[in-house]
Amino acid sequence: MRIRITVNGKLQEREVEPRLLLVHFLRDELALTGTHVGCDTSSCGACTVRLDGDTVKSCTVLAVQADGGVVQTIEGLAMNGELHPLQRAFRQEHGLQCGFCTPGMIMAATALLDLGRVLTDEEIRHGLEGNLCRCTGYENIVNAVRSAIAEVSA
Ligand code: FES
Ligand code: FES
Repeated sequence: MRIRITVNGKLQEREVEPRLLLVHFLRDELALTGTHVGCDTSSCGACTVRLDGDTVKSCTVLAVQADGGVVQTIEGLAMNGELHPLQRAFRQEHGLQCGFCTPGMIMAATALLDLGRVLTDEEIRHGLEGNLCRCTGYENIVNAVRSAIAEVSA
């Protein structure tokens, strides 16, 4: 089946198998390997991307279901060589260790920034509960998201 998906602002058109998952479309067809695969149970969130503005686990979506849609991945966040506020905040607040969960964590956090208001730590934790991190204990991740929200709403 032929599909057309706008990924990080660029229209991509490919012939794909109906069973191809969006995460494999991104990684294998488009070489956007920042979107990770960390489980086979839809539980880790490492594959999180934005699809038509929604936060989705791209291992739970078929590429054909995204046909005609707009996808943003971690590679689409930096603009004109400038890191996104969340990327800067994760670096400054040490919101990562091995980094495996980080792209999915940051993409999930973009939806929290889009709310356009200051969030409590509880709300931030709730917003990220679909994303697992084995390294950080989450504290620095929450600090990073809080700091990025403060920066963009200042
Ligand atoms: S790879 Fe774990 S939720 Fe998608
Ligand atoms: S930084 Fe290693 S899994 Fe989150």
